[in-house]
Amino acid sequence: MKLMEKPELGQYMTFELSKEKPIHGWFWYKEGYAPEIVEYAMKDCRPAAILDPFCGVGTTLLAAKEKAVESVGVDASPLAVFVSKTKTDDYDKDDLESALAFINKKIGGGGLDWEFELFSPHAAFPKRNYNEILALREAIEQEEGRTRNLLLLALLSILPQASIVMKDGGVLKIDKNKRALPAKEIFRRKVKRMVRELEGRSQGHAPTLFLGDARALDMESDSIDAVITSPPYLNNIDYSKIYGLELSLLHMSAAEAGEVRMRAVRSFIGRRMDVSDMPPEVGEIGSRIPIIGTYFKDMELSMAEMARVLKDGGSAYIVVSNSVIHETHVMVDEILGQMGERIGFRDVEILVGAERIADVRPQKVRTRESMVVLRK
Ligand SMILES: C[S@@+](CC[C@H](N)C(=O)[O-])C[C@H]1O[C@@H](n2cnc3c(N)ncnc32)[C@H](O)[C@@H]1O
Repeated sequence: MKLMEKPELGQYMTFELSKEKPIHGWFWYKEGYAPEIVEYAMKDCRPAAILDPFCGVGTTLLAAKEKAVESVGVDASPLAVFVSKTKTDDYDKDDLESALAFINKKIGGGGLDWEFELFSPHAAFPKRNYNEILALREAIEQEEGRTRNLLLLALLSILPQASIVMKDGGVLKIDKNKRALPAKEIFRRKVKRMVRELEGRSQGHAPTLFLGDARALDMESDSIDAVITSPPYLNNIDYSKIYGLELSLLHMSAAEAGEVRMRAVRSFIGRRMDVSDMPPEVGEIGSRIPIIGTYFKDMELSMAEMARVLKDGGSAYIVVSNSVIHETHVMVDEILGQMGERIGFRDVEILVGAERIADVRPQKVRTRESMVVLRK
């Protein structure tokens, strides 16, 4: 296993630079990366077909589409699959004209029920925003196909700005001092931005997308040239909660949010833990802190699936961050690298992109973000 410094990749390992990029920036996803990560990997191995088994908001798929490369995306969250699909679809002139016509329509309505498992959505928005959001949601349902998806994505994407909710680490908090922006107005602006960014774009290979589990992929063996992905970070967040408002507005019942949670990699505290068959590379910390053991078990299953679907000569590029949990520094990249060697990848490199100082009082710990490259 080789370790190399690649500081030029560091800035692309977070979503920050995606925010202002056309289409990539439509839906803020703190856990995403920038398309340059994907471009780097594509240059490295020139793939004809790419898989992202943790596709999030579709950065890999959109970057592949922009280079006319075929791709497949899988995610355990229906919200992620919806956002990815809408960002990578092909739109024609009629779709865009209908979206613009919608924002000038008079919207009435109400009467929809919006249920969210953590707190009442009423508490999350000023009354006027709450009513506008529900009226828009209802009216969007009358639209068709791709236009409906564009409008719905615009609405989901403005919820953070229109609410008084803060995404604080792994939890949602109501902050009465937060200023919520007017929902209808920012929705309109968002739709205009989206249409502007789609106008004049060439159409291309829309990816194949499905709701699924990276640990058990419904895909043929030896069918993919490259896996380019970033799994959930260890102990980072429970996606079904932190994006719960968006998920529930997409029309999920509380029970379905629970299902998303059960499908997800066990990267957060709060899931039932079973450390009975922990990967040997994890060592003592896996039994001392069970969440670490279960996380790496899930990653072992996911990496075995990557090895199965990759063709001989194919490569996997996995962006991860090392973590500090209960004052224990976990070298996620090295453990994944060692597991990859055992699973049968013939060559493993760790490209270190960025170092960060984690404030785990009373000490400060130096952690890093890196790309683990595995060749089959
Ligand atoms: C770090 S994010 C990926 C972000 C992505 N690179 C991007 O730029 O948008 C990890 C994703 O893994 C998904 N996920 C969690 N457990 C999963 C599982 N078992 N199978 C597939 N996806 C899963 C989460 O829903 C989340 O969208």
